[in-house]
Amino acid sequence: MRLHGLVLAAVFTLACAQPSLPGQPVVFTQDGQQRNGPVCDCYVVDGPDPGHFQGYRFWDFRRVPLDPAAAAGYQFYPTVNDQPVPYGPAAQPILLKDTAITKDWLIQDWHRPGSRLFPVSIANSEKNVFISRTPGSDSTFLVLRTKRLDQYSSTAEIATSFKSFLHVSMRVRLRILEKDFPILFPPAETQRLFVNTSATTPGEDSEASALRKRATALLPPPNGACAGIFTYFSRTSEADIEILTSDPPTRIHYANQPDYDPVLDQRIPGASQDWNIPIPWTTMATHRLDWFPDMTRWYLENQLQTTSVYSVPKDPSTVIINLWSDGGLWSGDLGVGETVHLAIEWIELAYNVTGPPAGPCNRKCRIDGVQFPGIPELVP
Ligand SMILES: *[C@@H]1O[C@H](CO)[C@@H](O)[C@H](O)[C@H]1NC(C)=O
Ligand SMILES: *[C@@H]1O[C@H](CO)[C@@H](O)[C@H](O)[C@H]1NC(C)=O
Repeated sequence: MRLHGLVLAAVFTLACAQPSLPGQPVVFTQDGQQRNGPVCDCYVVDGPDPGHFQGYRFWDFRRVPLDPAAAAGYQFYPTVNDQPVPYGPAAQPILLKDTAITKDWLIQDWHRPGSRLFPVSIANSEKNVFISRTPGSDSTFLVLRTKRLDQYSSTAEIATSFKSFLHVSMRVRLRILEKDFPILFPPAETQRLFVNTSATTPGEDSEASALRKRATALLPPPNGACAGIFTYFSRTSEADIEILTSDPPTRIHYANQPDYDPVLDQRIPGASQDWNIPIPWTTMATHRLDWFPDMTRWYLENQLQTTSVYSVPKDPSTVIINLWSDGGLWSGDLGVGETVHLAIEWIELAYNVTGPPAGPCNRKCRIDGVQFPGIPELVP
């Protein structure tokens, strides 16, 4: 019972960017300089089956310039530079669609009318996918936003332009933000730039008031939104991590699809696992999904949580992250005017693709337990 399955065919006809993923070199930045990473023939991941992959990418959202001109060409390479970024009062949220990442990730704008089972219409908006920061902090993150408006939910989704992944190990460092957590956000249909524009004008004063607000007790995010991190081919060929804001923050859902039988209107036993996680999803942590040929594994902070051999996807897939609410039984419904934000610090993907197997793996690199996330290290 997934939202995206019903509409993705339409998405793919619109997606015309050149898939550019395979064969990209590992690049990072240091003191503002771009460097090449180690030359690797393959990438090994840790775990009970330390498999290896031909390709590797890392998108780092932690040090993005909050200036439209500088952000336009920004490459999202990981960095070993930990100097603070001097974000001044002119720092502004950047829509992800206005950055160079769009050659790898497509910001979705499809919409779907409500129905009997999913009564609230949804409309993905490019305005709901942006780079932001907490006032006063030195680092940035990607935000996916969903907001319940009167007539529909304004939702967010990004999908890789490359659609022929065949087995991946993906990690997303993320958390769901508390209700009214102070961040810079761009205007949506009915919103303004800052959390409370009536208090002050934008700038240092707003930052100060947002910080004061942060000092007061934070409330949990509103019930009724679903965050998904998944591989996708079809409704019956996908592997998921799903977070429901109506759950306690230590509950997560791991599944290979299909996990729901629409004819019998019931869940398929064994398809989906409601799992209790040791770190709540309101805390920044690395969620990992390993899609291997015969098994799917889910990790949190590289600790194995659970595995599944049920309906492991067999088809070339895209990778999708979304945040939505459609009033159905699964997501629930947000109150009108409520907003939920998913914050992402980075996305890491080790992958194989369809086609002939790659050459031998002489230079192996590991991606787990490295000094800097996103910079693989040669295995001696
Ligand atoms: C906005 O700020 C004003 C002035 O500080 C305050 O009276 C009002 O309650 C705030 N509104 C919200 C929604 O926080
Ligand atoms: C990835 O592809 C290589 C061959 O190109 C293969 O040896 C390896 O087992 C594959 N990894 C996974 C996890 O399927």
